[in-house]
Amino acid sequence: MSAHGEPTPLTAHPCGPLSGTAEVPGDKSISHRSLILGAMAVGETKIEGLLEGQDVLDTGKAMAAFGADVVRLGGGAWSVHGVGVGGFAEPEQVIDCGNSGTGVRLIMGTMATSPIAATFTGDASLNKRPMGRVTEPLSLFGAQAYGRSMGRLPLTIVGAKDAVPVRYESPVPSAQVKSAVLLAGLNAPGETVVIEKEATRDHSERMLAGFGAKISTEVTDEGRVITLTGQPELKPQTITVPRDPSSAAFPVCAALIVEGSDVVVPGIGLNPTRAGLFYTLQDMGADLTFENMRDEGGEPMADLRAKYSPNLKGIDVPPERAASMIDEYPILSVVAAFAEGVTRMHGVKELRVKESDRIDAMAVGLRAAGVTVDDGEDWWHVHGRGGSVPGGATCESHLDHRIAMSFLILGMAADAPVSVDDAGPIATSFPIFEDLMGGLGARFERPAT
Ligand code: S3P
Repeated sequence: MSAHGEPTPLTAHPCGPLSGTAEVPGDKSISHRSLILGAMAVGETKIEGLLEGQDVLDTGKAMAAFGADVVRLGGGAWSVHGVGVGGFAEPEQVIDCGNSGTGVRLIMGTMATSPIAATFTGDASLNKRPMGRVTEPLSLFGAQAYGRSMGRLPLTIVGAKDAVPVRYESPVPSAQVKSAVLLAGLNAPGETVVIEKEATRDHSERMLAGFGAKISTEVTDEGRVITLTGQPELKPQTITVPRDPSSAAFPVCAALIVEGSDVVVPGIGLNPTRAGLFYTLQDMGADLTFENMRDEGGEPMADLRAKYSPNLKGIDVPPERAASMIDEYPILSVVAAFAEGVTRMHGVKELRVKESDRIDAMAVGLRAAGVTVDDGEDWWHVHGRGGSVPGGATCESHLDHRIAMSFLILGMAADAPVSVDDAGPIATSFPIFEDLMGGLGARFERPAT
């Protein structure tokens, strides 16, 4: 079943060269945060280029349920009249975050230091995912969580009446955990400190500073120590959401493995906490260049140009790079299947608790398509076939947008078509995927009904 409806099977046929410009949608992480921080500011935040994928739309609905005025002006332009830090109202209905771990975890953090209660739920994928990693630090602020076993949704948070600030060392490399704690810290008096051993995406820190919060990051022997001063008055902002590097990964990787391709993906943020895939592809010998390097809104940005790369080599992906490309391992494994030699990916336990168990989902589908994959708890190896992958499989997407898109890209470059049982989840992050890839030369087909 797709996130919000009946399953929609889709088949990708082997195709000719891809060419053209792929304008991918806005960044999902920044889109969620724009709506949430807009709701916490006093006055009107204006957003351009918001990702209008289901995950972000669900966060917008949630912000309205907590009292913000969230209005779609059209074509990615949105306006949010915020209620101010500490101004959240108690929602009247259950908050349904659909498929989105980012949405639910950030929103739970945001409301956990207000004296209100809210019940959260999601789809079958989200309701399997671990929430204890967030409810545990939120309990240190004085919030209480009542959920199902193993901290799963549906779950009710009773926010702290008199929140206290916390110092929290995150046991998992997770931007969602870090962000939940920082957002909770907004309505606690004094300094809230989060320590992370490995750098995860830093959009929350950058955007909190942009909205006027006092926040600093110090790199110490303990790791990155992030300190936020609570109870600021957040100032509304005008935000232009950059295009999503995690979505750019799909046309880029497709161009590398479909013979004769030459594709440009413009305006992609190369924030070092997000850009790991592109450096990994270059290490594998990809013909991938960064053109028009520039700085926009304090972030490095470039147009990515990807050309067919027949001489890709398998590599050992540095584990310390994992956090900066955590969402890109599924599509990397597809590229690795076309490379010469083995690609070894280690230190990636987090992949097992994403929208699906991404190691398992990809391993099963790749094997069905003729690729040898070995895997263990926190690692997997893909044995590249040096150019030709049989394909001819139907793969399960497990309610996971990135799994569905990865297998469709596989089908574009394999010897025989690859189908997914459900392409519906793609709408959570990349609603124009089918049209955009079709415009470059992909041949997708829906079964006759
Ligand atoms: C995200 C953080 C990552 C990532 C997700 C988006 C975010 O999750 O996988 O797609 O916006 O903070 P984790 O925090 O679980 O690593």
